[in-house]
Amino acid sequence: MTDDTTGGTTRRTLLATGAAGLAAGATLAAGSAQAQEGQANGPLAGRSALVTGAARGIGRAIALEMARGGADVIALDVAADIDGWSVPMATPDELEAVRAEIEALGVSCATVRADIRDRQAMRDGLREASGSVAPVGVVVANAGIAGNQPFLDTADDEWEANWDLITDVNVKGTANTIRAAGPTLVANGGGAIIVTSSTFGRQGNGTNPAYVASKWALQGLVKAAAIEFGPQGVTVNAIAPTAVRTGLSGPQTEEQRAEGNAWLNENYHPMDIGLLEPEDIAPSAVYLATEAARLVTGATIDVAAGANARYTA
Ligand SMILES: NC(=O)c1ccc[n+]([C@@H]2O[C@H](COP(=O)([O-])OP(=O)(O)OC[C@H]3O[C@@H](n4cnc5c(N)ncnc54)[C@H](O)[C@@H]3O)[C@@H](O)[C@H]2O)c1
Repeated sequence: MTDDTTGGTTRRTLLATGAAGLAAGATLAAGSAQAQEGQANGPLAGRSALVTGAARGIGRAIALEMARGGADVIALDVAADIDGWSVPMATPDELEAVRAEIEALGVSCATVRADIRDRQAMRDGLREASGSVAPVGVVVANAGIAGNQPFLDTADDEWEANWDLITDVNVKGTANTIRAAGPTLVANGGGAIIVTSSTFGRQGNGTNPAYVASKWALQGLVKAAAIEFGPQGVTVNAIAPTAVRTGLSGPQTEEQRAEGNAWLNENYHPMDIGLLEPEDIAPSAVYLATEAARLVTGATIDVAAGANARYTA
């Protein structure tokens, strides 16, 4: 299928035919025997999904769900602690474990260890990884960090350090991901970019202004990118999860978790649920990558158990 408006191979082509619609892509996909055997009929077969922050949490769940949909996966993660940040990041072992889980689903997986703040490292990693998987048709800019630093209760040096790190990783890192991988999507004939935002990118919160500001910035980034990439057959959307059980805020005791769950259930979620699981978020990302969402762009899907029903719009 060819899009009459551009006369070229577009996302529609890629979604409808997979890599078979692209000469170069067909070669790569043919090399991926597991993909052909395992998930050949999945909606994402013949394409790769680049997922950042894939070693654990929401990124891991999205990477696995993309694989279940038939996509090869490029699982990118810093997989090392970040200087000046007290929350432990994922480990190389966790990244390797995700690779094994994905390959067990019958598709190919390449891992990249890179910090999304380093655009060149991302470009290099993507180029290297591209040799062993199907052409990239999906980019999930998911990696992010979060921390509390209220205006009135944070020393200046801590404020400065947190502000810089959170905005660098969440805003610049996400923009880097789009800059590093966007041209590949265009060259491959189109695709989907999916950004992990947050309900805090849609409303305020009194304890973490840098995180809130960074996630609101992503909403703007998604809309700007949707307009720029639209003519190239690339959709750009966000997912806005509510609170999810991950390592984002660092280790928690069972008691802290239980308290958080109760608070969410009573005060935030109209639906009868506390913390969501990463697996609750992943299917929305897959939807945005499929043909069914080909005309959905510049949008945000709230996966928030109805917390989003409290937004004004
Ligand atoms: N957990 C939640 O409650 C929640 C809610 C809404 C949105 N989110 C968003 O979901 C995304 C994923 O978070 P999570 O909850 O799965 O957290 P997580 O800490 O469990 O996972 C984040 C992953 O990203 C990696 N990472 C962090 N900084 C990186 C960098 N600079 N370069 C490359 N990799 C990096 C980490 O190593 C880790 O594997 C984030 O953007 C977060 O803001 C999370």
